[in-house]
Amino acid sequence: SPLHPFLHALPKCEHHMHLEGSLTPNLLFTLASRNEIALPASADSAFTSPETLLDRYTRFTSLDDFLNHYYIGMSCLIHEADFEQLAWDYFIRAKSDGVVHAEVFFDPQAHTGRGVEYETVVNGFEKACQRAEQELAITTKLIMCFVRHLPVEHTNGAYAQAESHLVSGRLAGIGLDSTEKGNPPRMWQEVYGKAKSQGIRRTAHAGEEGPVEYIREALTHLDVERVDHGIRLADDKELMREVAERKILVTMCPLSNVRLKCVKEVGELPIRTFLDSGVNFSINSDDPAYFGGYILDNYCAVQEAFGFTMKEWEAITKASVNGSWCDDSRKDTIL
Ligand code: HPA
Ligand code: ZN
Repeated sequence: SPLHPFLHALPKCEHHMHLEGSLTPNLLFTLASRNEIALPASADSAFTSPETLLDRYTRFTSLDDFLNHYYIGMSCLIHEADFEQLAWDYFIRAKSDGVVHAEVFFDPQAHTGRGVEYETVVNGFEKACQRAEQELAITTKLIMCFVRHLPVEHTNGAYAQAESHLVSGRLAGIGLDSTEKGNPPRMWQEVYGKAKSQGIRRTAHAGEEGPVEYIREALTHLDVERVDHGIRLADDKELMREVAERKILVTMCPLSNVRLKCVKEVGELPIRTFLDSGVNFSINSDDPAYFGGYILDNYCAVQEAFGFTMKEWEAITKASVNGSWCDDSRKDTIL
């Protein structure tokens, strides 16, 4: 697109990027070897080489098909230095795409459940965040997610482990991810209520594979300040108006939605509808190592599908900055 240099230069905020989803096949194999992790080894296993794995990633059939690979991949992360390297590699790449502020997700339960200490994970990620601030001038926030494929009763333990970090602001907030269908947001009402009472910020994946009712539930039962994905929001015009009025940010991930077969193509997403209806949204990469693109690739895919004007892109950029969880002085510096 002739707008490519313009899109590259836009000051980007990323709000929907899972650090574990930035694990490239190359780093995955490096860590597997260094940490002596056995990968699935059958003759037709996709885990034969970085090349076969990358090729398999072009054929995900659903969110769960992706998640099966995602959880195997992250089993190679063992030491604090592994987590630091993973996040640092992402920040370098984000910087080259024009990211100035990154709010990144991670899944503590996916690590503690296989014997890696919570502190190992957080300390590694925090070191990378500090380096990103000092050496790349990227401001950062860490958001912990609860994984909805595990029993909801596990959530209290995961929250308790992180509670002091959430209260002190070392962690910026809570999110909810993993298998959506059959795990409606209301199931996590208790922990979200507790977080709210402690002044902790809240977001949740909703309306990715699940229906618009899940978005409504995330807003009413979890009182989220953001909706992650929210593809299905346009199915309920009244709810969409409410999201617009309340300035709830919808964090869109176009290439992810195509790779996971939520839509056939980027043009099917309600992005033009959101823009015209005053719904604030940002454009993000979700799991860039798995979905064929980092944030700038997502901006370019949106431009190819919708052909926005520079003025429209400036409005998207502004909404994205204003929907961030950084303080107003940082927003002013970016804009
Ligand atoms: N959806 C749900 N859970 C996830 C995702 C996603 O796109 N990426 C990582 N965990
Ligand atoms: Zn996600």
